[in-house]
Amino acid sequence: LKMSKEQGYDVITYLADIGQDEDFEVARKKAEKLGAKKVYIEDLRKEFVQDFIWPAVQANAVYEDRYLLGTSIARPCIARRQVEIARKEGAEYISHGATGKGNDQIRFELSCYALYPEVKVIAPWRIPEFYNRFKGRIDLMEFAKKYDIPVPVTPKAPWSMDANLMHISYESGILENPKSHAPADLYLMTKSPKDSPDTSDELELEFQSGQCCSGSPVESNKKVFSLKVLWLLSFRSKHGVGRIDIVENRFIGMKSRGIYETPGGTILLSAHLDIETFTMDKEVRRIKQGLSVRFSELVYNGFWYSPECDYVRHCIAKSQENVDGKVQLSVFKGQVYILGRESPKSLYNEDLVSMDVQGDYDPCDATGFIRINAVRSLRRKLT
Ligand code: ARG
Ligand code: SIN
Repeated sequence: LKMSKEQGYDVITYLADIGQDEDFEVARKKAEKLGAKKVYIEDLRKEFVQDFIWPAVQANAVYEDRYLLGTSIARPCIARRQVEIARKEGAEYISHGATGKGNDQIRFELSCYALYPEVKVIAPWRIPEFYNRFKGRIDLMEFAKKYDIPVPVTPKAPWSMDANLMHISYESGILENPKSHAPADLYLMTKSPKDSPDTSDELELEFQSGQCCSGSPVESNKKVFSLKVLWLLSFRSKHGVGRIDIVENRFIGMKSRGIYETPGGTILLSAHLDIETFTMDKEVRRIKQGLSVRFSELVYNGFWYSPECDYVRHCIAKSQENVDGKVQLSVFKGQVYILGRESPKSLYNEDLVSMDVQGDYDPCDATGFIRINAVRSLRRKLT
């Protein structure tokens, strides 16, 4: 903001509320003080949940087997509103503060170009004038101090954090050495499983079409949570659920080390996987599993607004039509344990599978089934 003003731009600032712990009034005053022509602070929590978190939950979206994409799904949500504001205000340029090395620049810009093809982008961290003046975050912190601009990082805790309803991520600073362990006080959303209670908490989550429509602690089932799902998503895990420390492959081609806390998202993923397998046809599930990997990669790489991602989202949504039911689970010492499930759409046939009754099934059929599947082995033996 300060540098764009120096260069003669009129600057309209925009801040999205997607559930991060932030004092929005302080942010507004800060932008005004620094000379913003207009300040937009937009509450996007509802659309973030509806249009981005639920499709990710329905997809069981996980990148490289571990990362639940809490940042990746937030970018297209933020960019969508940014483009609406830019159009409304007749802004020719859109700007963002992502570095020139990461995924976020790609996600913001691909989203903006898809929704507003005429727009031009100013990415300060890719402009030589800027990055020659500031070699990195430490220089920028000094600049902020000189001009009395409050920033939420200190040389002692210099991580780049990204928080929303679903997660917090931490990168940079001492975390850049992949061998160094994260300091215990880094974590803001979860307790260490070491310090978590010795008794578990039980929850019951209800799903409709693969979206969680309510959740409550089992003991107080009658108590109705007004913000049931928001409560779950922002679940501050006293049980230490949802921490990961990983090295991942950025789209731009480098590996980066990141630490994530996704307590509610981790619980939702376990519960959704369970109710999905319970209610979904086996072969549909196999195809959907492949789509889930594609979806995760597309979203990670910034292609939320693309024909292929649109298509995959439609297929995944279709697969969720019967994913209804309730899952009971317990959270304890960093883990989620499934305890039971029930569903009006269940494909589970207790008589069919039972070891105690015959059901509508002739065991003799299995002999042929196995013999046919063994044709290759039997043939090989004979030759
Ligand atoms: N590496 C993660 C991702 O690409 C998190 C990025 C976090 N962004 C940030 N500003 N620290 O989705
Ligand atoms: C950034 O580069 O601004 C954050 C990290 C990332 O986008 O991957």
